[in-house]
Parts: sequence; structure tokens; C-alpha cells
Amino acid sequence: MTPVSGSGLILGIESSCDETAAAIVRRGESVLSNVVASQIALHAAYGGVVPELASREHLRHIVPVVRQAVALAGVALADLDAVAVTEGPGLAGALLVGILYAKALAFGLDKPLIAVNHLEGHIHAVVMEARRAGLLPDEFPLLALVVSGGHTHLYLANEDPKTGGWNYCNVGRTVDDAAGEAFDKVAKLLGLGYPGGPWIDALATHGDPAVVRFQFNAIKPRDGDAAQRFDFSFSGIKTAVLRYTQTHDLSASIEARRAALAADTTLRPADSLHLFDAQALNLIASFQSAVVGNLIRQTLAAAEAFGARGLLISGGVAANRELRARFNSEAAARNLPIAFPSLALATDNAAMIAAAAWPRFLQGESAPESLSAAPQLKLG
Ligand code: KG4
Ligand code: ZN
Repeated sequence: MTPVSGSGLILGIESSCDETAAAIVRRGESVLSNVVASQIALHAAYGGVVPELASREHLRHIVPVVRQAVALAGVALADLDAVAVTEGPGLAGALLVGILYAKALAFGLDKPLIAVNHLEGHIHAVVMEARRAGLLPDEFPLLALVVSGGHTHLYLANEDPKTGGWNYCNVGRTVDDAAGEAFDKVAKLLGLGYPGGPWIDALATHGDPAVVRFQFNAIKPRDGDAAQRFDFSFSGIKTAVLRYTQTHDLSASIEARRAALAADTTLRPADSLHLFDAQALNLIASFQSAVVGNLIRQTLAAAEAFGARGLLISGGVAANRELRARFNSEAAARNLPIAFPSLALATDNAAMIAAAAWPRFLQGESAPESLSAAPQLKLG
């Protein structure tokens, strides 16, 4: 039964990795508030997310972040129609903080609790904005690329004509590292700041992407895989970058850069150009160009194979400027509508969780009391 919607307000809560986030979204479309407490500075010292530290930080931030989201939206908790929370995938301890808090809040307010898949959240970050801007194609299927630090997945999305909700079929995924993970690992081995994606993005514009040629090998289908798959592999290019630094004697300059950036953690890429020679910048530009090219090739091949009517690109790596520019021109050449999230909604946030919960709320969905973290949760 479709619940009678009062205010259309959903509070979203997201804590799957290293951002504690809360947002209020009306009717899955208008973002009234979107608060993110980032732990980047804490984890930067370790060069990656430390799960135990992440859980403790979520515990410290969850109450103030939710309070701030409610205050900024100018609403009262009693006005909410539902509470939505990320169920997975993600870090178990981190997810549990958001889930337990959301459960308690929903119980106390006597409102439904809606469990959301983080990956569907990323897709809905784009859907929400594209719909508002009138850029969302009316026809299905749509092909969604979710490309972040933990995921590189291609989903074919169709609308369920009965419920208006979306269903997903996974037609591609990384068989090893995620694309964002490759950005982060390559940045670390080249002595750049953390997280690596924004550093490589900013530095690549100063190098020549044609100098180092990286290859991507064909990926063998696994047993039981559907015939048509468009998988990715990014661990090979990481090793190729490492080998390049070894064969070109870059280790002394990498160490010097690492020491300089560690001595002054306020340095941003634009203030750090003096730490790079042309060889390092060309390597960075070549790496980014190869990864972006591979993401675009696989996505367009899948779009053609499945007759996709439009593309939705989301996740942290969707913030990358070369990715956006090249995807936009390739899609335009094929007359294929394409949408990206705004930068604020590309990386992890809770507005996308509240937006993804809206069609589920309209269908009367509500999570069981036994809801728990699902670290390996799949979509489609
Ligand atoms: O979606 P997200 O915030 O968290 C996950 O669910 O993983 O994505 C974070 C990832 C990191 O790997 C980060 O390096 C990457 O997104 N990233 C970028 C850029 N901004 C963030 N990668 C390439 N270019 C960027 N501008
Ligand atoms: Zn994410």
C-alpha cells in the first residue's frame, strides 16, 4: 500500500566509509541540507582508511552531523516522513554506527526506516540532479557507471512499470582494484597527497599524456559469467607505474617529494608544482589518460551492446575533469544523453541516500528490526 506522504521529507544517513553524512531531501528531489563530516585529514597520515579509526570517528560525529542537517533544513524531526540509512556495501563497523543511530531515531519518532544500497545512492545522486535539470532521458534502459574508491561497476537500469522503482543488472565490474583505488595507490607510490584522485586530476593537466603508453589486457570471463560482460582491471596499471619509476630511477625524487609534502600538510597540488619535473608530470598525465580511456571504452561498448538510451556517471572518480570532458564529447558524438553529479554529490554524501529511499518509501518499504550492516551488499 502506498503510504500517504505528508511533508515528503526524508532524513538520509551515510557512514559506509570515511564520511559521516546526514541530509534532508524533499520528495527525492530537493536537497534542503547536506552535511558531510570528512575524516580525510585523520586517515591521510596512514595513506588509506583505517577501519577502526573510521568507526570511532563516526561515533563522535553522528549526533552533531544529524542535528546540523535538521537545523540547516529548517525542519523538525517530527516533520520527517522516514529515516533512510546506508545498509552496505562498506566497512562493517562504520556502517553499524549509522544503522544503529538511524534505527533508534526511526523507532523513537515512530517513522519507517528505509535501508539503501550505497551504490544505488551514487546512481540517485545523478538521477536527482539530472531530473531537476530536465536532462534525464525518458527512455530505458540507462547505463550507470559507479566509479569510486571501492567500486567500478556498470549497471543496466530499467524502470519497473508497475512500481516506478528501478531495477539493476550488473554488466561489468572490476576484477581487482577499483579505479579510485588505482588513483590512490599510484598517488601514494609517486609521493603525492591523499586522497590521490584530486592530486592526479590537478597535476595531469601539466603533463603530456602521450609520453608513457599503458596497455589494458583483455579480461577472461569467470565461470558462470554472462556472455556479454564489460569488466575492468586496474591492478596491472598500478604495477606498470611502479615498474616505470624503478626503470627510470625516480625513487630519489619521489622520496624528496614525499618528505616535502609530509613536512607541510597544507600544500595543495597548485602550490606543489616545484616538486615535479616533466617526467613525473608526464607519467601522471599518461596514467590518468589511460584509466579514463579504459573507463570510457568499456562503458560505451556496454552502452552499444545493450542499447542504452543514456549514461549516468557517478562516484568519487566522476569528479575527475578529464573523465567528464572526454565522456561528454564521446557521448555527444553518439547522440547519447549523459549526466554527472555536481562535485558535492559525486563523493560520499547522505543526500543520495535520502533520494534513493524516496521511491522505496512511496512503495511502502520499511526495513526489518533485524537490519544490520551488509559489508558485501550487491546491487543487481
Ligand atoms: O565515492 P567516494 O567518495 O567514496 C567511495 O565510495 O569510495 O570516492 C572516493 C574516491 C577516492 O578513491 C578518490 O581518490 C576518488 O574518489 N576521487 C577522484 C577525484 N576526486 C575523488 N579520482 C579522480 N579524480 C578526482 N577529481
Ligand atoms: Zn561511495
